[in-house]
Amino acid sequence: MNWNDKGHYLSRLTYVSRAVGKLGQEQLDEIMEQSSKNNLEQGIYGMLCLYQQYFLQTIEGPRDKINQLLKRLLNDQRHQDMEVIEFSEIEQLNWNRWSMDIASSSELSEQILKRYLKDTDFNAFYLTNDKAQTLLRELGDQAEGENSAEAD
Ligand SMILES: Cc1cc2nc3c(=O)[nH]c(=O)nc-3n(C[C@H](O)[C@H](O)[C@H](O)COP(=O)(O)O)c2cc1C
Repeated sequence: MNWNDKGHYLSRLTYVSRAVGKLGQEQLDEIMEQSSKNNLEQGIYGMLCLYQQYFLQTIEGPRDKINQLLKRLLNDQRHQDMEVIEFSEIEQLNWNRWSMDIASSSELSEQILKRYLKDTDFNAFYLTNDKAQTLLRELGDQAEGENSAEAD
């Protein structure tokens, strides 16, 4: 597909939100299952991170699809206080290795998360966009390392 055809500009959305109640593994699996399936169909890629009660997610893809997903996310009762950190036009996909990957509780990712969130009193709402992107990138690289180690 030619991404620059009318209606197919590429956008990136990054946001932070707070989980409603204590999210169990089953609910998290459900979110991941829905996301991987939908995103694959719609040419959306990204990374979701859950730390304590905070979600941090970046998603990239066709602008119309990202807007449709934004509306669904705003109406999703499983999280609240959604705050958009970034909505921008991008030249190319940075996250196209993953339809959706997640970083939550592995010990290494905890270390990475703590390092980035330390300056924010562990409140993900205080992350700048630059910090959010590098944090997600580091978590993504680590997840990829773990997956390839499993495959070996
Ligand atoms: C933190 C969080 C992240 C989500 N990420 C995605 C996503 O990347 N893609 C997606 O399609 N749905 C995602 N969802 C789910 C959507 O809000 C919505 O429930 C879903 O897209 C509806 O899909 P359905 O029409 O197939 O039921 C997410 C939900 C939460 C709470």
